[in-house]
Amino acid sequence: MGFEQEIARRRTFGIISHPDAGKTTLTEKLLLFGGAIQEAGAVKNNKIKKSATSDFMEIERQRGISVATSVLAFIYKDKKINILDTPGHKDFAEDTFRTLTAVDSVIVVIDVAKGVEEQTEKLVEVCRMRQIPMIVFINKLDREGKDAFDLLDEVEQKLGLSVTPLSFPIGMGYDFKGIYNIYEKNINLFSGNSKSNIEDTIAFDAVSNPELDTIIGEKAAAELRENLELVNGVYPPFNTDAYLEGQQQPVFFGSALNNFGVRELLDCFIEIAPAPRPKKAEERLVTANETDFSGFVFKIHANMDPKHRDRLAFIKIVSGTFERNKPYLHVRNKKKLKFSSPNAFFAEKKEIVDISYPGDIVGLHDTGNFKIGDTLTNGEELNYKGIPSFSPEHFRYINNADPMKAKQLYKGIDQLMDEGVAQLFTLELNGRKIIGTVGALQYEVIQYRLEHEYGAKCTYENFPVHKACWVDAEAANDEFKEFKRVKQKFLATDKRGQLVFLADSQFSLQMTQQKYPTVKLHFTSEFK
Ligand code: G4P
Repeated sequence: MGFEQEIARRRTFGIISHPDAGKTTLTEKLLLFGGAIQEAGAVKNNKIKKSATSDFMEIERQRGISVATSVLAFIYKDKKINILDTPGHKDFAEDTFRTLTAVDSVIVVIDVAKGVEEQTEKLVEVCRMRQIPMIVFINKLDREGKDAFDLLDEVEQKLGLSVTPLSFPIGMGYDFKGIYNIYEKNINLFSGNSKSNIEDTIAFDAVSNPELDTIIGEKAAAELRENLELVNGVYPPFNTDAYLEGQQQPVFFGSALNNFGVRELLDCFIEIAPAPRPKKAEERLVTANETDFSGFVFKIHANMDPKHRDRLAFIKIVSGTFERNKPYLHVRNKKKLKFSSPNAFFAEKKEIVDISYPGDIVGLHDTGNFKIGDTLTNGEELNYKGIPSFSPEHFRYINNADPMKAKQLYKGIDQLMDEGVAQLFTLELNGRKIIGTVGALQYEVIQYRLEHEYGAKCTYENFPVHKACWVDAEAANDEFKEFKRVKQKFLATDKRGQLVFLADSQFSLQMTQQKYPTVKLHFTSEFK
């Protein structure tokens, strides 16, 4: 197969949802379709369990196992599908945001009874900002839930999307009869015990076909016809270009647990979802079919074995081919590096590969060369954009608890931050270090890892911050000079040396914005 064909057949995407909406179940069913796994339950066992929230070691252990499920690849109808796992656990939201920089599209899973939930809102917002093509899957149709039209409304209102249904449920919960597949014009009947089988579909040229009444009953048939008429009247027809531009989001209904509506979703997905998309570097736009290799690190996974401090850096290939044992330029370090055992991912296994294509993810063993966001190329000096930091939600001073081990502590902090475990801020006033995290859990993880991997001890001290805002202003601006003088106590630099304002309350943030309008405050580190 030629280079261009290899690119055209790749679909690299992520599944996002609020915890419990059915992301893991859906992932598993997709793998079953690809023949990548033989039984359900395989992915699930690697999931970070809700019950483990208070036990961070258990979470770390499970995160260790989940290296295997970081990328799930399989072939379906000759398409190479790469699913990038996004942790549903709220405390790992940063991981998910970063993973979203490496996907070409996403599937959003929504629970039919719960509708749009908090985590879905946050994640979809990130995808919307980046115009990532999204397909919505409304799950758990075997249960009683919200009315389909109400849900579509809710998705539009709360998520700011423009939806158009490509399937429509016939009944729901106890009365759930199946799905009319608008995209393929057929009906898939629900028998309730289709958990592992793939249902047969009955094709229909038109819903007006009287046979429909015999199959699903007159009442259900009438209702379906009415609903489809309404769908036609209210929603615009599906438009692939609009979907690819992030302007329209097709919606499917189904039940992942019952493997229902999943084939329809997958079949449509491989047809419409984008092959690897071009990516912006600071220097220029890079397209997948350029022959020179380039890629970037979006995730670093630490080895769980404290004796080996080696890590696995996950690289998304943006252009060209990545080949084993070939030297590539590490742009930030200006060093050439060769990799003798790059890992590719297939279903739940990882194996050494000789060549990988755009859209693929390779795992590179790393002894500390990589940071999140680093670019590797054939030689060109490119720096990929799009791995911003977001304001953490928790902030604490970190103190050294063992003066003999200061060096180890700083090295440990440095490396953990490179991995993206948390963010480090250094106060301008006195150089004290502050750790910002998305979840409180990370503090325990950091403390544990510093002790066990670096032999350093730390303590924390509360530091009340409402939000970290990245500051954007001209150095010569007088207002900025005044801002820096007055707010000195609240100013810090992040790891890249960017200036950050740590607002202690919503009120002080507003007041500051009002008082210094030319000093722009951003909630993410990438605003240019
Ligand atoms: P997540 O990854 O988004 O957190 O969700 P996950 O797939 O783990 O699903 C959460 C729960 O919802 C699981 O039940 C799962 O079996 C159930 N579920 C998923 N899809 C469907 C569906 O289509 N219909 C119904 N009725 N339930 C569904 P659990 O009890 O939390 O876990 P388990 O004991 O079944 O493993």
